[in-house]
Amino acid sequence: MSTFTLNPGGLTADLPAGTSLLQAILAVGGQLVTKCGGNASCGACHVFVVEGRKGVSRLTPAENAKLDTLVGVGSKSRLACQATLLGTEAVTVEMLGALSG
Ligand code: FES
Repeated sequence: MSTFTLNPGGLTADLPAGTSLLQAILAVGGQLVTKCGGNASCGACHVFVVEGRKGVSRLTPAENAKLDTLVGVGSKSRLACQATLLGTEAVTVEMLGALSG
């Protein structure tokens, strides 16, 4: 299990390993509209992993390629549909847009 926290808002839940960050965001009550259905092609799920980056799966080539095309990408950037919780440590994600809900 990983303790997952979504900011802004501080929404949190304990979630099993293998949960994607996108699933985690929705599980704690966050809202994230995807355009590609989680195929690493729309970039709408770009988030920052601000804590616990080692508790998240490694970048895949597809994720890396998509991130390269986005504006505002930094070292903490991940595609929430591709990155999954490893269950090894707590993970905190910051969404780019305003959090609703
Ligand atoms: S949902 Fe489209 S890139 Fe992640």
